[in-house]
Amino acid sequence: MTEQKPPQPKRILSGVQPSGKLHLGNYFGAVKQHIALQDEAEVFYFIADYHALTTIQDPKSLSEHTRDVALDYLALGLDPDKATFFRQSDVPEVNELAFLLATVTNMGLLDRAVSYKDKIDRGIEPSVGLFYYPVLMAADILIYRSHVVPVGRDQVQHIEMTQDMAGRFNRTYGEIFPIPTYRLDVGAKVPGIDGQKMSKSYGNTIEIFAEGKPLQKTVMNIKTDSTPLGSPLNPDTCTVFALHSLFATPDEKTQLAELYRSGAIGYGEAKKRLLAKINAYFEQARQRRKELAADANHVEDVLRHGAQKARAEAQKTMELVRQAVGMKPRPVV
Ligand code: ADP
Ligand code: TRP
Repeated sequence: MTEQKPPQPKRILSGVQPSGKLHLGNYFGAVKQHIALQDEAEVFYFIADYHALTTIQDPKSLSEHTRDVALDYLALGLDPDKATFFRQSDVPEVNELAFLLATVTNMGLLDRAVSYKDKIDRGIEPSVGLFYYPVLMAADILIYRSHVVPVGRDQVQHIEMTQDMAGRFNRTYGEIFPIPTYRLDVGAKVPGIDGQKMSKSYGNTIEIFAEGKPLQKTVMNIKTDSTPLGSPLNPDTCTVFALHSLFATPDEKTQLAELYRSGAIGYGEAKKRLLAKINAYFEQARQRRKELAADANHVEDVLRHGAQKARAEAQKTMELVRQAVGMKPRPVV
């Protein structure tokens, strides 16, 4: 009889840049899955504030956005007892690993980075930090010896680069790192209020924690065609319908599609119903966010506690890495 090994627990890791308020695209494309995964595996999530410095160079925005993202995740259900939730810069060892990885990384590999080129095309300063971005991202993943990295499609190349760096490091110095794989965040492309992909950079977002008049105004501004009231509408091409579907049960979706096709509903009414759905769906999270925000120390305590756990893991990896490259254990100061 062959002995059966218990399945190896998988460690899941992902990072989110603190680059502004989270929107429905972020929620249905990423955050919702991230939070659900905390019940299935060991998860590490961090706020990538070092990375954000490649595009945001304003101290007030960096610290406010970092706090905002932390509050958003916690209010939406991230449980710090289940997930290790921390700020990237609270684990400085990640920069040490990034440099060591850089020494086994070809310039050619980084030269091929699509996201670097995209950012430069959008007018972002081509700094050394921006060019080095994928190396730091590889260090983020490898320092926690992660197996699976849930990301959006735009990040896949970065994970492939990480696999390359991990492979080269392992071939040079011995098997230190598991080779991570990506898992595409399941959310389809969530449209913004102009019908294009919802994105902070297009200014077409519906923020998760918007409410009251500003939210109402955004929803009422969703672009629709000029079909007159009383005429049939096409649910398949309507942004309001697409957004509504994210919140609706299959039955609700079918019923709404019938109303559209029969001409019994106009865009104004459809928008009102969408607004009601958004409000109902996020009501509890909004309440929770207000409570969390009122406690001045809570977010900071959560992030610091997460950083202690994360840092202990990172230090374990760095002991192996330093030894592998021929360095001595670091003296205790
Ligand atoms: P943005 O485009 O607003 O800057 P990010 O690039 O920071 O958003 O994305 C963070 C996460 O949210 C990624 O995993 C990305 O795939 C997901 N995401 C962002 N916009 C959308 C969208 N419109 N539809 C689905 N997922 C999205
Ligand atoms: N580059 C990612 C993004 O813009 C954020 C990120 C930084 C990340 N380090 C990471 C994602 C490590 C996954 C794993 O969305």
